[in-house]
Order: sequence, then C-alpha cells, then structure tokens
Amino acid sequence: MFSRIVGTGSYLPPACVSNADLIARGVDTSDEWIVTRTGIRTRYLAEPGQTSSDLAFEASRRALEMAGVSADSVDLIIVATSTPDFIFPSAACLVQARLGNRGAAAFDVQAVCCGFVYALAIAEKFILSGSHRRALVIGAEVFSRILDWNDRATCVLFGDGAGAVLLEASDAPGILSVALHADGSQHRILSVPGNICGGQVTGDPFLRMDGQAVFKFAVRALAEVGQECCKAANIGVEDIDWLIPHQANIRIIDATARKMGIPPEKVVVTVAEHGNTSAASVPLALDLAVRDGRIGRGQKVMLEGVGGGFTWGAALLEF
Ligand code: ACO
Repeated sequence: MFSRIVGTGSYLPPACVSNADLIARGVDTSDEWIVTRTGIRTRYLAEPGQTSSDLAFEASRRALEMAGVSADSVDLIIVATSTPDFIFPSAACLVQARLGNRGAAAFDVQAVCCGFVYALAIAEKFILSGSHRRALVIGAEVFSRILDWNDRATCVLFGDGAGAVLLEASDAPGILSVALHADGSQHRILSVPGNICGGQVTGDPFLRMDGQAVFKFAVRALAEVGQECCKAANIGVEDIDWLIPHQANIRIIDATARKMGIPPEKVVVTVAEHGNTSAASVPLALDLAVRDGRIGRGQKVMLEGVGGGFTWGAALLEF
C-alpha cells in the first residue's frame, strides 16, 4: 500500500508587499540588497486578525475541491505551524471545525520550516499502518506576527501563507521514501526564544537568526537528505523531475540544487514572490506547480524542508 497526493491547494493573504513598500513603511533597506542576497521581491502579509487557521482553511478547501472529496470523509488533519492561533487548541482543531468535519484526529506539528515535510511523513505512517485512509496535511504560517520590524536582517525575509495536500491510501505510488532529521544542539542559530508565563511574555518574542550559520547548515542538510531519500527509493538524482526545496533564499536553493547535481530548470522557485513562508513554503510551491501544469501525474518530485531546531527532511513522491 502507498499514500498518494490526490489534491493540492494554497492560499496567500491579499496584501502583496514589495521591497519598495517595506522601505516606505520605514525599514532601512534597499531593493538591491534584498534581491541580490535573497532573491525576494515581494511577500504576502496577513490582514490584522487573519490567523494561521484562516489561511489553512482556505488552502484545505482548495485541496479538497481539487480531489473532489468532502471534508467529512477526512479522518486525519495535521497542521504544521510555528505560529498557531492559540497556545491551545491546535490550529488543526480550528481548521476541522471550519471545514465542518467531526471525529477526525487533528493535531499540530512544530518543526518550523521543515514542519510540512514532518507532517507529511507522519500522515504517511498513519496511512501505511492502516489506521487512517484520508489525511489533510497543511503548512500554515503568519510569521509577520513574530518578526521584529526594526531588525532589517530578518524582517525582509518572511511572508505569510498556507499550502495543503490531501493524502490518501492507494495501491499505486505514492510517497516513495521519506527521511527526517534534527540536531537540537543547533537551536540557537534560529529561534524565537520567548514564552508566555503568568500572563506575560518572558524573554524575546521575536525571530532571531544567525544568517550565515543557517545558510551553511541548510545547504549541507538539504543536499544530504535529498540524496538519502533517492538512495532509500533506489533511484538516481537524475530521475527526479522536480525539486521543491524550502523557499528560504534563492542562494540556498541554487547552492542545494548545484550540490545535488539537479539543473535549475527542474527546481520550483517561489521565493521571489512569496518570501519565506516557513512551513507553508513547500506545499505552496507544490500547489503552484501542479496548477500551472509543470507537475503532472507519474512524475518524481522531491520535497525538502529545513528549519529551526535544527530540523531537516525530505519526501520523494511519484506524483
Ligand atoms: N538591508 C540592507 N542591509 C542589511 C540588511 C537589509 N535588509 N540586513 C543586513 N544588512 C547589512 C548588515 O547590517 C551588514 O552591514 P555592515 O557590514 O555595515 O555591518 C551587512 O548587511 C551584512 O550583514 P550580514 O548579516 O553579514 O549579511 P549576510 O551577507 O550574511 O546576508 C542573509 C544576510 C541574507 C540573511 C544571509 O546570511 C543568508 O542568506 N542567510 C540564510 C538565512 C535565511 O535565508 N534564513 C531564512 C530563515 S531560515 C530557514 O528558513 C531555514
């Protein structure tokens, strides 16, 4: 038995914010600095009051619509997010309520920018065990809420959004292999090191990053885990039709593809328009490439994530 993606969906909030818009809002930067270092030209920011579960609901609705199935037939809902609406209940439970589903298992996964790959791997295990048959797997983030808008080294990098897939038990492939890893000793290079205690924020509630350390770690981790997934599925890197790496930065994406020996024309890139949407970036890019016809049935697609923790992982699919 396999688990197979039968629908994809995504959602971006309405406000498209260019680099020039950030400068107009008072960020001390330039379009040239952002574009040459990151490739980012625009990002989408959630409206005040718009939450991760709102974005996740819209992406899920579209994935269900593509698959042509009703929400009440879903028996597992996993949301990957580091920016949930509440401390609890989970964003997954809120999405479930909005979809009108009753009784599915629903929970969130926290693996930051690798969260969607973790969530997909978990859903695959549930389906392969035979306990569940139809899973909504969602990445949804409002990173704009945890950015220090006075820190130009981080606030220009991120955007908000959501992507979703519907995963089903199937006789045909399917997810061919998955690999997940973490190294908690690297937690300081990318973190939001605050918490809520006694009704107050204790520590720092904003995203902090050692950009150069992240860069080096991300390229090595993404290249290695991609090769590991190919080996596990017994295919060569040259058999991959599409690489969809986490969309953090064009230089990380280019360096990873080069290290893996994958030509640029096989890489799906959305970072220029979306910025880094953390757990949403991979399913957003997947949905875009499915809907514009680049990714078709039978093609081999490698999804890769890397993020705070540090966490990293990959999933190889026959779409
Ligand atoms: N605009 C203009 N100047 C800036 C900006 C900005 N937005 N941000 C920083 N600078 C300045 C700094 O102040 C510094 O100036 P100085 O030399 O006068 O002190 C100069 O640019 C260089 O700063 P660095 O931090 O050393 O810049 P670096 O070359 O490392 O580039 C960057 C920063 C783009 C973040 C880079 O480290 C990088 O690509 N890192 C990868 C991290 C990443 O993409 N993270 C995303 C999240 S992690 C994830 O998703 C896995």
